[in-house]
Formats: sequence, structure tokens, C-alpha cells
Amino acid sequence: MKSKSLPQLEEKIKNKMARVGVVGLGYVGLPLALAFSEAGFKVLGVDVEQKSVDSINQGRSYIIDVSSDRLSSVLANRLLEATTDQGKLSEADAICICVPTPLTKTKEPDLSYVIHECEEISKRLKPGQLIILESTTYPGTTREVILPILERSGLRGGSDFYLAYSPERIDPANKQYNIANTPKIVGGINSQSAKVAELLYHQIIDTVVTVSCPEVAEMTKVFENIFRNVNIALVNELAQLCERMKVSVWEVIDAASTKPFGYMPFYPGPGVGGHCTPLDPHYLASKAREYDFHIRFIELAAEINENMPYYTVSRIMEALNDRGRSLSSTSVLVLGVAYKKDTADIRESPSLRLIELLLDRGAKVSYNDPYIPEIQLRQHSLTSVELTEDNLSSADWVVIATAHSCYDLGKIATSSKLVFDTRGVTRGLSNNNVVRLGE
Ligand SMILES: NC(=O)c1ccc[n+]([C@@H]2O[C@H](COP(=O)([O-])OP(=O)(O)OC[C@H]3O[C@@H](n4cnc5c(N)ncnc54)[C@H](O)[C@@H]3O)[C@@H](O)[C@H]2O)c1
Repeated sequence: MKSKSLPQLEEKIKNKMARVGVVGLGYVGLPLALAFSEAGFKVLGVDVEQKSVDSINQGRSYIIDVSSDRLSSVLANRLLEATTDQGKLSEADAICICVPTPLTKTKEPDLSYVIHECEEISKRLKPGQLIILESTTYPGTTREVILPILERSGLRGGSDFYLAYSPERIDPANKQYNIANTPKIVGGINSQSAKVAELLYHQIIDTVVTVSCPEVAEMTKVFENIFRNVNIALVNELAQLCERMKVSVWEVIDAASTKPFGYMPFYPGPGVGGHCTPLDPHYLASKAREYDFHIRFIELAAEINENMPYYTVSRIMEALNDRGRSLSSTSVLVLGVAYKKDTADIRESPSLRLIELLLDRGAKVSYNDPYIPEIQLRQHSLTSVELTEDNLSSADWVVIATAHSCYDLGKIATSSKLVFDTRGVTRGLSNNNVVRLGE
């Protein structure tokens, strides 16, 4: 089969005539699809969830960083179409894969979504297509797992079709950094693949950094998340020591942050959540074991961070003990169940673990989260209660687990009997009914 020449695909990209396929329309895929549409490309968004596809086609966004107005505007210009029909991907010149990469129950990489999608693409792969994996994964995935699946089509990677890895760095709810102004890493399986992938991303992103191969791009992504995870673990451990030494970890972090070089702040909390930071390190740890290599920092960071919800509960129990109370006779109102402030994302949220642990120990637990109306735990389902003065004052403890910007901290502190602040956000307040993690 004869391939389309590289210059032909490059021309189509430069003229915005290339059709871009985005597979997996979640936190990563939907903003990406929108960015290409807003740049003037015709975009085909593919997802397995009919509900998501319908919502997009009706101009209703379900992702915090994508407004329904922006969605409606690209739909009106016929620049975006969502579908569950994988067959339509044969019309795309470039396909970005943004499907989930979770862990199995035993914390091994679960590449089943990526593999399934590549099998779908392989069935209808066309000469000249550019395939880019954006999902986070371990180094080696693009060349060892994806390339062989795509080559089952009978086409050769790097000449008949182009293949690259380009990790997504999106930070949901970040008002300063978005797709356009966050530099994008690209690694192709050969120079042609890298060149055309770089050209594509240049249409929507200010800075594209091309590295020598997909393995470097893959390792870069997991390293970035491991760096974050390890530093959060370090500060979580420091917070525990600070408590014993009666030193405020928050004040220490503020002071250290005045150093203009060689330091960047990370903050303690009730644990680490989200789809990336707690999960991605396991991708590298698992791959490393193939090389008889154990990355001890990853294990250590997981141990410290995963213990933080337990530690938070033990602090609450200690404070109750000081007041001659036990957890089993206590009502606790947990504020914020999203893993990150100002988002509606509860994946791996430490607040959920915290609530489960409090329930396991007999506490009567309620929660408020303006973004999450209900939560399903192992044995319980709970509905968000309103943040009224009555609800605040009737709880024995109010725990600030995720400090959404809309929370009125003054009202929370004055209306509540006792507040346990896991995020250090009440520091400006003079109320003496507040106990803080790390102090
Ligand atoms: N969320 C983040 O902040 C973030 C940041 C950087 C990287 N990542 C990585 O990006 C990838 C996607 O993450 P996400 O947060 O967007 O996940 P998500 O769960 O929000 O979205 C994934 C979407 O893929 C769809 N899907 C699953 N299998 C599919 C298939 N075979 N075909 C089409 N659609 C399919 C799901 O229905 C879902 O809508 C993961 O590898 C993640 O680690 C996420």
C-alpha cells in the first residue's frame, strides 16, 4: 500500500485542512478537542459513553475547564462533532488518544483501554495517518505495545503511518496555565513522526519541546508526577514532626518560599488524590521491576501519602480525647470531597478515605461539597448537606478536607464548635476553636 507523503500531511496541518480525531473525551480529551476546533480544525471526538457524546453535541460541557458557551460556538461553526462510532476515525488525518490508564486492584498498570483503542484504530488505519498517545504510561509503551498493534494493519510505523507520544500536562481549574501556554513534550518513533506531531501541536500550543524518542517523553511525564508525589510526601512527614515540635509547618513553608532559587513549595494535606499523582508512580515502579530495579522513593512516598487520611483521623481522635470525648459519639461534617479545590473530581480523593475511616470508627458523618451533590462509598451513599450555620454549629467537628475557594472561612470558624483544618487555610483567623494539621 502506498503511503501519503509527509509533506502532504504537513500541508494539510498548516492549512488547517487536516481532520483531527480525539479519542476519550474526559478531562484531557475534551479541552484538547476544543482547542483544535477553536484553532479552526474540524475535530471528531470519539467516546464510548453515549451520554458524554450527546452532552457535547448538545453544547453541554461536563468538564470544569470547558465552558458550554465555547462548546456551543465550535458546534455552531461545525468544527466539532462527537460520536461513539470508532469507524469514523478512518476520516481523521491525526488521532490523539486520551483514554484512561488506571491501575489494577494490585496497583499494576492497566493498559486495557489503550490496547483496546489501538486495536480499534488498527482495524481501519490508513496510510499517512498520524497517531499520538497522550495518556500517561510507563516508558516503552508506545514502541513496545502500541506500534505492534498498529502494525497488525499491514502498514509500517514511521513510513506508512506516523506515531508519537505526547503526554498531557493539563492542570484542571488552573486559571494561569492552560493547553496553549503549557509547553508540550513530543517524542516520535522516528524523526518524521516527531516532526509532524510537533507541527500539529504548534497549531494550538505556544511551545512544543521535541525530545529524541517516545521513551524520553514517557519517562518525563511519570518523572514529573513522581517529583510531585515525593515532595508532597516529604512535606506531609515534616508536618507530623512539626506537630511534635510545636512548630508551624505552614509558617516554615512560607519562610522557605522566600528563597528565590533551589526551592519550590509543596503543601501537606489529608492525602494525595486525582487520576495522576497517586497512580502514575506505580506505572514506573512496575516497569522498573522488569529491570530488577526498585524505586524506593515511589514506595516510600506512597506509604506516607496513603497514611495521611489515617493520620488525620488519629489527630481528630486525640483532640477529642483531650476533651473527654470519643469518635463513636461524635458528629463530623467534612467540607470538600473533591481531591482538588474548585473541581468536581473525586477520583482517588483522600476525603473519601477520610470519611470511610470516620464511619468505620463509629462517627456520624455528613459532608458538604458545592461541586459534588452525592458520593458513593463502599457501604454508604451520602448527599451533600447545605453549608448553613445550623449544620455547622450542630456538628461536633467540622473538618476542612478540601478548601474550595467559595468557602467562607470566617463563617465556618465562627459558626462551628471545633474545626480541624487539614489545608492550613484558617491561619489568618484568630478563632481558638481551630486545630490545624502541621501545627
Ligand atoms: N485528569 C488530568 O488532570 C490528567 C492530566 C494529565 C494526564 N492525564 C492522563 O490522561 C489520560 C486520560 O485521563 P482523563 O482524566 O481525561 O480521564 P477521563 O476518565 O476523564 O476520560 C477518559 C475518557 O475516555 C473514554 N474512553 C474510555 N475508553 C475509550 C475508548 N476505547 N474509546 C473512546 N473513549 C474511551 C471514557 O469514557 C472517558 O470519557 C489518563 O492516562 C490520565 O492519566 C490526566
